[in-house]
Amino acid sequence: MHPSEAIKNQPCLDWRFHLPQQFQKIIFWIYFPLISVSNFISPFNSFNLRDRTIFLTGGAGLLGREFAAALAAAQAHVVIADINGEAAQAVATEITARTGVEALGLEIDVSDRLSVHAAVKQILDIFGQIDVLVNNAAVDPKFDPTHQVEHTGSFEDYPLDLWNQSLAVNLTGMFLCSQAVARPMLAQDKGVIINISSIYGLVGPDQRLYENQIDPTPVYKPITYSVTKSAVTGLTRYLATYWAGKNIRVNTLTLGGVFNQHKDEFVQRYSARTPLGRMAQRSEYNSALLFLASDASAYMTGANLVVDGGWTAW
Ligand SMILES: NC(=O)c1ccc[n+]([C@@H]2O[C@H](COP(=O)([O-])OP(=O)(O)OC[C@H]3O[C@@H](n4cnc5c(N)ncnc54)[C@H](O)[C@@H]3O)[C@@H](O)[C@H]2O)c1
Repeated sequence: MHPSEAIKNQPCLDWRFHLPQQFQKIIFWIYFPLISVSNFISPFNSFNLRDRTIFLTGGAGLLGREFAAALAAAQAHVVIADINGEAAQAVATEITARTGVEALGLEIDVSDRLSVHAAVKQILDIFGQIDVLVNNAAVDPKFDPTHQVEHTGSFEDYPLDLWNQSLAVNLTGMFLCSQAVARPMLAQDKGVIINISSIYGLVGPDQRLYENQIDPTPVYKPITYSVTKSAVTGLTRYLATYWAGKNIRVNTLTLGGVFNQHKDEFVQRYSARTPLGRMAQRSEYNSALLFLASDASAYMTGANLVVDGGWTAW
């Protein structure tokens, strides 16, 4: 007998084919919706942040405002904590009005231990828990029209006070905020920490981007940004392994440059240096943040999620 004939003549082993036709239909209509529901709805359900409390530092900044709105859209209570307390409250008021989910604006200096602990106490008094900390606040010397570059950023003359300020906010800030949420998270038996980093934490800045054809004074992305952002992955790995078995997940989210009305010259250079050929839109990191904040990333800790248009692949 030809092998294909043998296969055709084999008895069907699936028990469902031996049931009367009526039963087959009933089983299909029970079975199919269940598979459909589990396949098509539950993967997205795991992104839901309903009733979770999220402590977002630097929440009044360019990306902080985007993150706050995205987290609130996923039904989380977002605490927008920023050194600019008024701006933080304005963001919170707008989010509550838009989503109907209670948000809170707080003034905080992440580099000041007392300020951080006071903020954490206030959040716990109001919401009773802190499920997610997003360490997003940073001193980020930008080259867009809304920021005056106070120093050229040259390494040879870099002022010690700017070095100390960046370390205090970008690094000590993450340390203090993580430390302040540690006991509440351990007591809850769960928690998530997301540390925001940059492509300059992975590769050195391409200083040619910052050359200016009109003003010949050279400007540089400063040493402090690279040093503090490089340290973020170390902090993440330390905490992820330190809390092994404690159900506190710690991950880094590394981002590429966001378009913010930069000069054409800068945008062209940045885009040419990026495999996807452009800068990011400010909303394009929201989904990665939701992934890391939610149960969608339940099997992820100590990792670095890089969303950079391919910048670090080159
Ligand atoms: N914008 C980008 O292109 C880009 C790219 C890669 C990574 N990042 C990272 O994303 C995060 C957010 O960046 P952004 O573009 O929104 O920056 P941003 O400067 O617009 O916002 C930073 C926020 O942090 C706040 N802040 C500063 N010092 C503080 C302190 N001591 N205590 C509390 N808050 C303080 C500021 O008031 C501001 O609202 C940063 O960690 C940054 O390094 C940004």
